[in-house]
Amino acid sequence: MAVKEKKQTPAKSQYRDISIKGVIAEYREASLKKNDYEKAKWSSHQSMLNRFKLCHLLVDWQRVNTWLDAGCSTGALFEYVDKAGIAVPYRFGVDAVNDLIKEARSKNLAGHVKFFADDLVSLADDGQRFDLVTSIGTLQQCGHRPADFIGALCLRLKAPGQIFLTTKNIGWCEFTSGRLDPDPHHSWFDFNEIEGILGENHISIKRSGGFLPQTNKIVAANESHTMFFWGTKRE
Ligand SMILES: C[S@@+](CC[C@H](N)C(=O)[O-])C[C@H]1O[C@@H](n2cnc3c(N)ncnc32)[C@H](O)[C@@H]1O
Repeated sequence: MAVKEKKQTPAKSQYRDISIKGVIAEYREASLKKNDYEKAKWSSHQSMLNRFKLCHLLVDWQRVNTWLDAGCSTGALFEYVDKAGIAVPYRFGVDAVNDLIKEARSKNLAGHVKFFADDLVSLADDGQRFDLVTSIGTLQQCGHRPADFIGALCLRLKAPGQIFLTTKNIGWCEFTSGRLDPDPHHSWFDFNEIEGILGENHISIKRSGGFLPQTNKIVAANESHTMFFWGTKRE
């Protein structure tokens, strides 16, 4: 992100046009890296962990028996939750990249865990519905428009199950002031657009806002490049 001096008008969502094939090629390349956070293309181990901590903090785990993590990469979130001592009997991870799913399968995770290598949006609907659906950092580079990807997430959610997702926020004040430019290598979304799509999919938002992944702080939406949404599906 280059530092600029000129002013810019407030931004609308900025989509990167990339097919699922392109997404798979980029994450396959990342899968050759050494650490989980690098394979997921996070800037640091800590920033990945802090996203997991936010999920841990917000989700009501008492109500979760079945969980789908979409864009699960190497299964690092499941591993984090195991270490935190949270037991979820049935967990399912889906990721478009087979090499990442192979690594996820090699992890020694608790309980009944299944991983699928597939594009979430093209995955045949087997009718299974989950108490919790998570998708951390996937929407911005998923090969689909947000309405299609979020629709696929919400389809698989039981009412009144919980959804937790994080993605990239184009309304960050550094962008709207024109001091920085959004990285064109992935999509950036307007907060209201994502909130609206979740609403159309019968999600009542319980908590949302901005999140600082480096310092693990919840802030106003315009104070971060990362935003999060936690909600439940209406009956
Ligand atoms: C930024 S990484 C995040 C990984 C993990 N959620 C985490 O927080 O560490 C995004 C992951 O989503 C996967 N992905 C992208 N588009 C997908 C799609 N349409 N269906 C399934 N997985 C997808 C990528 O292969 C990648 O592993």
